[in-house]
Amino acid sequence: MSFTQTDITKENLNPFETIGNKWFLVSAGTKDSFNSMTASWGFMGVMWGKNCVITTIRPQRYTKEFIDKNEYFTFSFFSDEYKDALRFCGSHSGRDVDKMECTGLTPVDICGQVGFEQAEMVLVCKKLYVQEMKPQCFTDSSLIDKNYPQEDYHIAYYGEIVKAFVNNK
Ligand SMILES: Cc1cc2nc3c(=O)[nH]c(=O)nc-3n(C[C@H](O)[C@H](O)[C@H](O)COP(=O)(O)O)c2cc1C
Repeated sequence: MSFTQTDITKENLNPFETIGNKWFLVSAGTKDSFNSMTASWGFMGVMWGKNCVITTIRPQRYTKEFIDKNEYFTFSFFSDEYKDALRFCGSHSGRDVDKMECTGLTPVDICGQVGFEQAEMVLVCKKLYVQEMKPQCFTDSSLIDKNYPQEDYHIAYYGEIVKAFVNNK
């Protein structure tokens, strides 16, 4: 494993593929105390003149506690061979299981944040803005019926991509 820093604006990234189809782990904390969960909804783009991501987290996620108490979070992207590991991290809570032990993923320190030895790319993101979705803000109420029967509205976390790393393996 050897991560080298890259310019995110020069990476050939299709967010619909990278986020929506390949999924990713969103993590917060340090290598020794962190939590990660799988996400397949999210955004990459530009806001306030900064290269940003947005991750949307439901209130009951253990990962939310880590994102809330840390200044940074990370996005880690993997090749398809790790889809089962991501499936596991997206269907079990860190409150109940040790996801690293169960998946074989290996956390690594990246700029004081957590990435994974097996990841293809890790984005280190500085939290900038946090906003809870509210039912009265939906202009298409069918989204509420479909996605929020438990009223567990997502919280959107905007983060500036302060560093990006690719794994040369
Ligand atoms: C493909 C996939 C995508 C997911 N995307 C999200 C998401 O964007 N936001 C969210 O809150 N949960 C999402 N989840 C669910 C969490 O990953 C799941 O509830 C996880 O067990 C939470 O773990 P934690 O309690 O350790 O944080 C997704 C799950 C899967 C399998």
